[in-house]
Amino acid sequence: MDILNQLFVTNISPPLKWVGGKKQLLKELISATEQFKKQSKVDNFTYHEPFFGGGAFFFELSLNQSIKKAHINDINVELMFLYNSIKDIESLNELIKKLSKLEKKFNASQLREVLYRDWRKKFNDLLAINKPKTYQKIELSALLIALNKTCFNGVYRKNKKGEFNVPFGSKKTESVRFYDEENLLKVNKAFNNAELTNKSFEKAINFTKIKKNHLVFLDPPYIPVSKTAQFKSYYDDGFSNEEHELLAYKLDEIDSKGAFFILTNSNTELTKKIYLQNSKFNKYEVNVARMINRVGKDETGSGTKELIITNFKVPNLGN
Ligand SMILES: C[S@@+](CC[C@H](N)C(=O)[O-])C[C@H]1O[C@@H](n2cnc3c(N)ncnc32)[C@H](O)[C@@H]1O
Repeated sequence: MDILNQLFVTNISPPLKWVGGKKQLLKELISATEQFKKQSKVDNFTYHEPFFGGGAFFFELSLNQSIKKAHINDINVELMFLYNSIKDIESLNELIKKLSKLEKKFNASQLREVLYRDWRKKFNDLLAINKPKTYQKIELSALLIALNKTCFNGVYRKNKKGEFNVPFGSKKTESVRFYDEENLLKVNKAFNNAELTNKSFEKAINFTKIKKNHLVFLDPPYIPVSKTAQFKSYYDDGFSNEEHELLAYKLDEIDSKGAFFILTNSNTELTKKIYLQNSKFNKYEVNVARMINRVGKDETGSGTKELIITNFKVPNLGN
């Protein structure tokens, strides 16, 4: 990357706050990527992320332009509508216009909670449409961002009927910023060489596409550390232990193709049992500070740790 580019591309922020965001683990994930580059001897690589969520790691990697081609996937339909709207420049311009209107309306409103409930209803009505048209997907994407910025704790949760049901947050009077146009344009640029899909992981982990020396980053919903742990359900029906087992099976396949993987999850005995059946895989316990869900709280109560599991050695990472 040339110096001029470096001066302009200073940072890219995920457009949404997402449960399980990888901001606190970026340093460790970047160290692992450096090792991957060394060991695979590739500088510009193909990247796969089947549980994309807020995409913090991908956006960080996009900064130094080392991704040649990316395969990005998440099972959440509305999330992928949003990313598709950002990837297409015409849709993005529409999205920005809508966000600007929503932001102005919210900041001028004396009845923000009423407005919020109105938006939430509109959002759920749009979500219920079977095959939404492009303008409806853009409308839904704008509302997704608006709700994310104004709901309680910025979390995303749906009820059994598949409706977004998070209550209004605490932003009663202060001015709230919904978007940063420059940042959205950087996200658009980062998606230039990305293929975006909306499937379940077992279909997204596709071996006609995953090849030798590709990097696969896997950040599935975390195995809860306790039975009472909240936020264990990212998607309507949660993520079962059988799905974790299936993913563990896929790790062997990824490894056998000569691809490299980095997987993150909570530091529990079950995580180790499921994901460390192959003795070639390495585990690193790393410290993190999580604000929302504390899913990574160590079972022993001795601190907050999460696991990074790889099929290659990363010296000096965790223990
Ligand atoms: C821990 S979050 C990923 C967080 C992300 N790395 C970030 O920085 O924001 C897990 C993601 O997996 C997605 N997910 C849940 N079940 C899935 C499935 N069966 N297939 C693909 N994605 C799934 C959720 O929608 C959620 O976005």
